[in-house]
Amino acid sequence: MEAESTYFELVATTFKGLEGVLSNELTALGAKDVKILNRAVSFNGDTTMMYKANLWLRTAIKIIRPIHVFKAKNEVELYKGISQIEWSDYMDVSDTLSINTSVSSEYFNHSQFVALKSKDAIVDQFRNKFGKRPSIDTDNPTLLLNIHLNDDECIVSIDSSGESLHKRGYRLNSTIAPLNEVMAAGLLMLAGWKGQSNFIDPMCGSGTMPIEAALIAYNIPPGIFRKEFGFEKWKDFDKELFETVYNDDSSSQEFEHQIIGSDISGGAIRIANENAKNAFLNNKISFKVMPFESVMPLETKSLIIMNPPYGERLKKTNINEFYQTIGNCLKKNFPGHEAWILSGNKEAMDNIGLHPTKKQTLYNGAIECKYQCFTMYEGSIKQKKLIKSEK
Ligand SMILES: C[S@@+](CC[C@H](N)C(=O)[O-])C[C@H]1O[C@@H](n2cnc3c(N)ncnc32)[C@H](O)[C@@H]1O
Repeated sequence: MEAESTYFELVATTFKGLEGVLSNELTALGAKDVKILNRAVSFNGDTTMMYKANLWLRTAIKIIRPIHVFKAKNEVELYKGISQIEWSDYMDVSDTLSINTSVSSEYFNHSQFVALKSKDAIVDQFRNKFGKRPSIDTDNPTLLLNIHLNDDECIVSIDSSGESLHKRGYRLNSTIAPLNEVMAAGLLMLAGWKGQSNFIDPMCGSGTMPIEAALIAYNIPPGIFRKEFGFEKWKDFDKELFETVYNDDSSSQEFEHQIIGSDISGGAIRIANENAKNAFLNNKISFKVMPFESVMPLETKSLIIMNPPYGERLKKTNINEFYQTIGNCLKKNFPGHEAWILSGNKEAMDNIGLHPTKKQTLYNGAIECKYQCFTMYEGSIKQKKLIKSEK
């Protein structure tokens, strides 16, 4: 087992707007020197922390480990920089390799070119040393590299996650376009969800939000259903240490309330039930086929989060009316509740007819979205103010 003092830098990547919640998650996990970057959070940790970060972080897409930083303004400098790394420390000649690149530089304009030159530098090093070269496997490589070029600064990292961490392992393949799991967890955390009340998603589609809500409420690690993480194929993989991290269920918690997902589509609810079953949560979430308009409050308070259709398949007047109905139903049926809505249709959002108490911009894939919180006061705000001033 690695000595506790062996700390190194790690970077957790995420979606724009989720950096704050990701940094809170990292701090709670015990990461050191947590710093917010653009669409990422850097931190220090040991091997245990790297394994934990992959297993436990709900709002991280990848956990990468920077291994070398150098300056490069042209292909010769790039090749030289990559060659400075002793690649046999990270992989054998019989292993396979894949390279992801992100480039934002006036010196390099094609990420494919950067990947190709970097690959050349690595395979040439092996060929010169061993007379053989490792092969490329973009589907399931032994070592996945991440090369980030920002102007003339090149950061070479090894990707400890492998497949993106949003691939939790519970989702059934389906034709429904679901919310990304990392985004769903982010929406819940931005709304302050910790399992302190009931939770309702009245347009739950394939059930992503109720499932992520249940994982948080029972404090189940989101990575528990994954077949594999990238680091399990690394040369220095510590199986015993990972098993200790994986089998530690000391932080699981009880949850006293209800989690409910409903949707007008029977097909969506069938998929939601299957997904929940794959996550062993089928008896912890109730899914119902029901139009939003018929959803009624429970005896005790609920947090409501929903991701209504953006209206690509509806006429403009219809989508605006649909959002107006959402606002009216919330006002009428859910006094005393908070409802958060994510939508990529800004005009339709203005038709909700309620004043948002909190708001933020997020991206659902390439679509710029508004994420707004509406507080339905019991009685009107005017009445509330009156009662306050009379006291
Ligand atoms: C953008 S999708 C939600 C995707 C979901 N968050 C997921 O992860 O799969 C919007 C959902 O709203 C549902 N929907 C549309 N109109 C509805 C209504 N009147 N009542 C309830 N659900 C409705 C659709 O069937 C669809 O599943």
